[in-house]
Amino acid sequence: MPTPITKAVIPVAGLGTRFLPATKAMPKEMLPVVDKPAIQYVVEEAVRAGLADVLMITGRNKAALENHFDHVAELESVLREKGDLERLSKVNASTDLADVHYVRQGDPRGLGHAVLRARSHVQHEPFAVLLGDDIIDERDTLLSRMLEVQQRKNTTVVALLEVDPSQTHLYGIATVEDSDQDDVVKVTGLVEKPPPGESPSNYAIIGRYVLRPEIFDILETTQPGKGGEIQLTDALQEMAAGPAWVGGVHGVVFRGRRYDTGDRLDYLKAIVRLASDREDLGAEFVPWLRGFVSELSADGASDAD
Ligand code: G1P
Repeated sequence: MPTPITKAVIPVAGLGTRFLPATKAMPKEMLPVVDKPAIQYVVEEAVRAGLADVLMITGRNKAALENHFDHVAELESVLREKGDLERLSKVNASTDLADVHYVRQGDPRGLGHAVLRARSHVQHEPFAVLLGDDIIDERDTLLSRMLEVQQRKNTTVVALLEVDPSQTHLYGIATVEDSDQDDVVKVTGLVEKPPPGESPSNYAIIGRYVLRPEIFDILETTQPGKGGEIQLTDALQEMAAGPAWVGGVHGVVFRGRRYDTGDRLDYLKAIVRLASDREDLGAEFVPWLRGFVSELSADGASDAD
C-alpha cells in the first residue's frame, strides 16, 4: 500500500524581481489577486485536496507571509467590537486554514535546493509541491487527481499543460508516452527550459508536483543546471530514467483553468479573469469591462474612467 499523503511544500523564497518596486519590502506571494494574496489561493488549493500540513520554504523579507497565516489580535478585537463579523471571518479564514510551518532556504540556490530543505519535515512520505506563481481554478481538481494517480501507481507525478511552442523555453518540458488513461501520460524525459526551437515537446510542467521521497536523495547530488541553479526538473529527469524501484514519473495533463501570476501581464490577466467570475464583483465588473474595451481607441488609449 502506498503511504498516504498529508503534506504540501510551497517554496516562497524568490526575490520577486519582476514586480519591483512592489516587492522591495513585500514578498511577491502577498500581492493581491482581486482581494486575497496569491499565496492564500495556493494554500486553499492544498487544503481542498486534503493537505492541511503546509511547509513554506521562505527567505528574507517574508515576515508578511507568516503574519498573514497567524492571528492579528488587535484587528480581530476591533472588528469584534464593531460587530463586523463578515470581515472578521475573512481575517480568520487564513489563520484557521492550515497548519503552516516555515523553514528558511538560506542561500537561494534554485527550486531543487528549496525542495531539499523540506526533507526533515517531510521525511519518508510522498508529498506535494505547489509553486505560488500558478493559481488553479477552484472548480478544477488538478491536485486531487495527481494525488490519486500517485497513490494508484506509487509514482512521482507532475502537472503538464500543452503550451504554444513559442512558450516552451519558459518551462520544464516533458517527453511523454500515452497511458491507458486519457489524462495521464508516462514521462520518459525532462529538460529544464530548452532553448527556443529545441523543445522535445510542448508538454510544460506547471507548478504542481507530487513527489516520492526518493527525490531528496537525488537532489542531494543534483549538480547546478540551467542558470547555475539546482533544478527540480533535473532531479525528476533522473527519476524518470532511474531504476524501477523509484517508481518513474507520470504526468497528469491539465485541461482546466490556470491563472499565471508570475509576471506583470499574466498577473493583470489573472485578476481580470478571476474578478469577472466572482459572484460579488462580476455583475458590476463585467459590464464595465465590456464598455472599457469597446471604448479603447485603436492606439490603445482609453477614455473610460
Ligand atoms: C519553475 C520550474 C519549471 C516549471 C515552472 C512552472 O520555473 O523550474 O520547470 O515549468 O516553474 O511554473 P520558474 O517559473 O520558477 O522559473
